[in-house]
Amino acid sequence: MSPPTSSSSSLAEALSGWPPPVLDPHGPFSNSVTTLAWVLIGGATLIFIGVCVAMWVALYGSDELRARLGGERVVKWFGLILPAAVLLLLLAWGLTMMRGLTTIQGDELRMRVSGNIYWWRVSYLDAAGRELHADANELHIPVGRPVVVDMVSEDVIHSFWVPKLGGKMDMIPGRTNRLKLQADKAGSYGGQCAEFCGGAHSLMGFVVVAHEAADWQRWLAARLKPLPVNLSVDALRGKQLFNEVGCAACHRVAGTDAQGISGPDLTHVGSRQSLGAGILSNTRATLIGWIGDSQSIKPNNRMPAYRSLKGDELNALASYMESLK
Ligand code: CUA
Repeated sequence: MSPPTSSSSSLAEALSGWPPPVLDPHGPFSNSVTTLAWVLIGGATLIFIGVCVAMWVALYGSDELRARLGGERVVKWFGLILPAAVLLLLLAWGLTMMRGLTTIQGDELRMRVSGNIYWWRVSYLDAAGRELHADANELHIPVGRPVVVDMVSEDVIHSFWVPKLGGKMDMIPGRTNRLKLQADKAGSYGGQCAEFCGGAHSLMGFVVVAHEAADWQRWLAARLKPLPVNLSVDALRGKQLFNEVGCAACHRVAGTDAQGISGPDLTHVGSRQSLGAGILSNTRATLIGWIGDSQSIKPNNRMPAYRSLKGDELNALASYMESLK
């Protein structure tokens, strides 16, 4: 398996810093968005300077210049024709770019991501659009190959955004939107919900892990095989508890009795880089904290706090989660 070249243990780190991710593209689709951003920043700067000069002339210029500035020609050209031309050109450019970011060519990897309060359901699809593999909160993609992501929502409007790899697209209940991603380099890339969807909106993150193409093939082949069954004593106890305390009603672990689908799929939770949809690094301590009291970490998420579980029970559950790779 390809170890990602950079760690995403801190999603906040992946999304902040200098240059800001939106100006630090790592693939062709984010590249075109960044070009648009620079043109907008440059254009806005020129217009700002122009307005400052006009204000200076209006306040301190000679009578002749001030008369010209207040004339009909200036209003017609700079108040009407220039703004209309600039906006029309930007619209045409934006729409053309949008087409490139959303149309399917045929050689892409197909995925579907659906937004949920406050996590992401992830599906890997075959060429016909059927689900090959289900996962949550982490997308694994091959380097150098475009990925088409179909986007839906299961509750309210969310927005899918991996600034270094592509544009930003809303997930709207009842419709399917589409966006293309591509990574030029192996590594982990932070993503974030970009549409206010409730109190914990800012804690709705995810990670995209880009692997070299051959590594990605191996990764997928391993994912399509059943999980190993030899569990430690602790993990085995955790597996029993998982069913007894009700985890299995909401979560699925492939190949077991746990087939709930209203919460994130946990079949491979032990191999994820983050917990709680991109907000915590995945360690024994954060697993225990999340299971015992996720409400104090991400308020109003749909998983109840399990404050009645004892320390050794939480430890056993976390041990079972860690075994799910
Ligand atoms: Cu989901 Cu904001």
